[in-house]
Amino acid sequence: MPVEFNRDTGIINLHNEKISYIIQILGNRYPVHRYFGKYIPNYSNLDDLPKGNHAFAVDTTEDFPFSITSLPLEYSTIGDGDYHQPAYLIKDEQNHWLPTLKYCGLSITDKLPHGNLPQSIGDSSEVTTLVLHLADDVTKLQMDLNYTIFENLSLIIRSTTLHNLGKSALTIDALDSLQLNLSDDNFISFTLNGTHAHEANPMTSQIDSGIQLQHSFRGTSGPQHQPFIALSRPETSQFNGEVIGTALIWSGNFEDSIEVDQYQKTRLKIGLEPTTFSWQLKPQTDFQTPEAILTWSNHGYNEMSQIFHQFSTQTKLSKPSPIAINTWESMFFNVSDSKLSKLINKAASLDIEMVVLDDGWFTNRNSEQGQLGDWQVDSNKFPNGLLPLVERAHQRKLKFGLWIEPEMVTTNSNLFQEHPDWVLKYANRPLVTARHQLVLDLSREVVREHLLKTITNLVKSNQLDYLKWDMNRHLTQVGNTQLPATEQGEIYHHYVLGLYDLLNKLRQSCPNLIIENCFAGGGRLDFGMASYTNQTWLSDLTDSYDRTKIANGFSYLFPQAIFSNHVSAVPNGQNHRSTPLESRLQLASIGQMGFELDLEKLSVEQKDSIKKQIETYKNWRKLFLYGSFYRLTEINDLNIAWLITSSDKKTAIFFYSYGLTSSVRKIQNMPLHYLKDNINYSVNNRIYSGLQLNQIGLAISPSKQDFETSLIFITENSHPSN
Ligand code: GLA
Repeated sequence: MPVEFNRDTGIINLHNEKISYIIQILGNRYPVHRYFGKYIPNYSNLDDLPKGNHAFAVDTTEDFPFSITSLPLEYSTIGDGDYHQPAYLIKDEQNHWLPTLKYCGLSITDKLPHGNLPQSIGDSSEVTTLVLHLADDVTKLQMDLNYTIFENLSLIIRSTTLHNLGKSALTIDALDSLQLNLSDDNFISFTLNGTHAHEANPMTSQIDSGIQLQHSFRGTSGPQHQPFIALSRPETSQFNGEVIGTALIWSGNFEDSIEVDQYQKTRLKIGLEPTTFSWQLKPQTDFQTPEAILTWSNHGYNEMSQIFHQFSTQTKLSKPSPIAINTWESMFFNVSDSKLSKLINKAASLDIEMVVLDDGWFTNRNSEQGQLGDWQVDSNKFPNGLLPLVERAHQRKLKFGLWIEPEMVTTNSNLFQEHPDWVLKYANRPLVTARHQLVLDLSREVVREHLLKTITNLVKSNQLDYLKWDMNRHLTQVGNTQLPATEQGEIYHHYVLGLYDLLNKLRQSCPNLIIENCFAGGGRLDFGMASYTNQTWLSDLTDSYDRTKIANGFSYLFPQAIFSNHVSAVPNGQNHRSTPLESRLQLASIGQMGFELDLEKLSVEQKDSIKKQIETYKNWRKLFLYGSFYRLTEINDLNIAWLITSSDKKTAIFFYSYGLTSSVRKIQNMPLHYLKDNINYSVNNRIYSGLQLNQIGLAISPSKQDFETSLIFITENSHPSN
């Protein structure tokens, strides 16, 4: 049984064979945190909780000799003596905050908490959920703290559900998905930060007394900060050391924070961003927070990533996408029937598997100032519509895909003219545009119904195989005329629920459609979007050297199977750098491969290289996409190396990205760490033991050209050695 509950001590040990999460119901009153880490089978209560007779703590009582001020509460608020950042703030009718809610029982199920949110998937054989029920006697609010453990993963899924069983409405001003207390502050924080075309840069910082906080007010998760934070020991490397990681399954505003208090104890939190969130919890209604994934590893960042990757393949729609040629970087808005016809023929001759018509295919769209929202094919560019092109592609055994930005509209569109109230806006204020566009109010069912009908019709009537679902601006003026003033604070949240509802229904109406997630690149790559889409356009930066860093950053959380990487022309349009074609081809092979090139301009040699790499990709596709992905270089190393292994470790791919050439001709050994010691491997026609490759590794010679990469295939040597 993965939950052991000792009624005498109040100790609950939620565990599998790898981890324990230990809570104590203190004095039958408050759940407090005791431990999270390696599985401890027979945890025995330590008498180490402070009584709180220091630093003006609120008073203890005879029947409860602990002060709430210094307890490691599982879930806390302010107002009755806990002075940390609150995990929840809920107001009653008098506008007074509810106190710390008291424990009133627990239940154990083999299900996940319900809700209309993306969530972890697991059946009853592998999932156990512990629910701690807390309640407020005065308002009759019931609060459930949900903890789900999987049979084989070193992670816990946390969320909170509120049930208003009383007679008056309550106002939720903050409601986190997770609060976790750690008994010391010897940690560094690890986060992923960036901006457009510069996503997912790893950053480590010393944590210190006070609060370190990251958030998004953008209405989306955003490339600026990933909804993820980890705490690791100062000595933690890719290979060793303790790391606790948490990520939110949510695509909207979020906040995570680390607080180190006066006793050098650390409190970690993640959940909905409170400034942009407020919710009227009417009588007899419920509210469910997004889920937070909480991982534990003592084998470094690679093990943390493996846990996230395994979790992610459980939640996402995993199927290999066709090798794509996308029109964006070679044609921009200047697309046409004749160009696409030629592209289909050229793509087929290079063994590419799908043509994607990016932005510019619909009416009045010749620049960023063009029209969004109507999604009618531009009859000047495509006089016969899209269907004949799609049919031609299908005849040539190519799939066909289209770009769309469904959440957006421009004021010159028919849609806006007919429904000016369908956009997010504040009454009596000028509209705020970005990239010249406005955002449709996805919190409204009528808007979602219209979008579902339009997109389904577009896909079905044109026999489309794929959609690139883009979003090219953040939210502003998040308001509408539908909800009363008291509920305007709910719209950010409803927007994301609306987006999930729309994607979910589109999945049902077009079950075979491949959906690529895009927000001007990887600006909305989070576990929420990853559970509705097949792959993600990692960045608008296609330069292979910088994109390797971006993929490296995202690899901390996501498996390479969802990375969409394309070979584009040089010098690169974003950073003006020229990299060798080989490097661009090799990087594009790690994940879902594709191209943004003008195929008409390729030399014979370039075409040969492309065909060769496509053939290699097809032969090794399973490993490129679904192999276990490990980083072999540390966070601050200049060069990047990866190893991708099959689950039986009999085959592997080694990838190395060099930076600038150097006059110092240093040869470096690169231990591979994750092969099997007792297998002999063949590498570049030589035989090495796994032990040698793990311990000493491959010799990396200096590069002869800036931004080279190398890709080495490692296979089990089946010939007996003599
Ligand atoms: C975004 C995407 C690009 C391209 C353009 C089209 O920036 O990230 O790949 O689709 O929009 O406008």
